[in-house]
Amino acid sequence: MVENNALLKLTHGMYVLTTNGAACFVDAVCQISSGDNPLVSIAVNKKNFTNEVLHNQDRYALSIVGEKDNMDLVKNFGFQSMRDHDKFASSPNKVEMIQGVPVVKDTLAYLVLEKVDTIENDTHTLFIGRVIEAKLTKQDRPMSYNYYQEHKDELMKVTTTQGKTAWVCTICGYVYYGETLPEGFTCPVCGVGPELFEKKQG
Ligand SMILES: Cc1cc2nc3c(=O)[nH]c(=O)nc-3n(C[C@H](O)[C@H](O)[C@H](O)COP(=O)(O)O)c2cc1C
Repeated sequence: MVENNALLKLTHGMYVLTTNGAACFVDAVCQISSGDNPLVSIAVNKKNFTNEVLHNQDRYALSIVGEKDNMDLVKNFGFQSMRDHDKFASSPNKVEMIQGVPVVKDTLAYLVLEKVDTIENDTHTLFIGRVIEAKLTKQDRPMSYNYYQEHKDELMKVTTTQGKTAWVCTICGYVYYGETLPEGFTCPVCGVGPELFEKKQG
C-alpha cells in the first residue's frame, strides 16, 4: 500500500520554473552534482504545458522562493495553465530576460540552466540541466514545501463563501463547493484525491 500522506513528508523547496513560452510552480527540484558545473534535476508533470514546451527548449530558469516572498507567485504560476493564461503578464514579480530566458526576479535567488538530459518516467519527465548562471538576491530563508503546507491557509488566505459547504484541497488550496465531493473526484489543480480535501462549513 502506498499512502500519499507518507510521500508528502518528502519535503523540497519552492521554485518558479520558467522558459520561453511557459512557466509553472515546482517543488520537485534536486541538485544531483556539484563542482564547477553543478547539475540540477526538475521533475515536471507530463500533463503540464511547461513539460511540452521544455522538450523543445535548451534553456530554462528556476527562481528560488523565500518564506517572505509574495505568495501570489504560487497562485499565478502553480494554480493555472499557460495554455489559457499568460502567467508572465500577470506575474506579481517582474520578469526579465537573462541569458535568453525569462526569469522571475526579486525572489531569493535565480539559476539559469542549460538542458543536458531528459528521463521519461510514468507521470513526470526529469529535466536535467547544467547551471550556467546563478545569482543570490536576498539572504532570507528559503521556503520549504513543508513550511508552505503548514502555513498555507494564512499564506494563501484561503477563504470560502459564507453559508456554503466547501471542500478545500489541503495541498494547493483549491475550493470545491458542494455537500459531497463527486465520485472519483481529483483536484483539478494539483491532482490529489478526495482523502486530501478538508470539509469547511461556511
Ligand atoms: C506548491 C506547488 C508545487 C508544485 N510542484 C510541482 C512539481 O514539482 N512539478 C510539476 O510538474 N508541477 C508542480 N506543481 C503544479 C504546477 O505548477 C501546475 O500544475 C501548473 O498549473 C502547471 O502549469 P502549466 O500547465 O502552465 O505548465 C506544483 C504546484 C504547487 C502549487
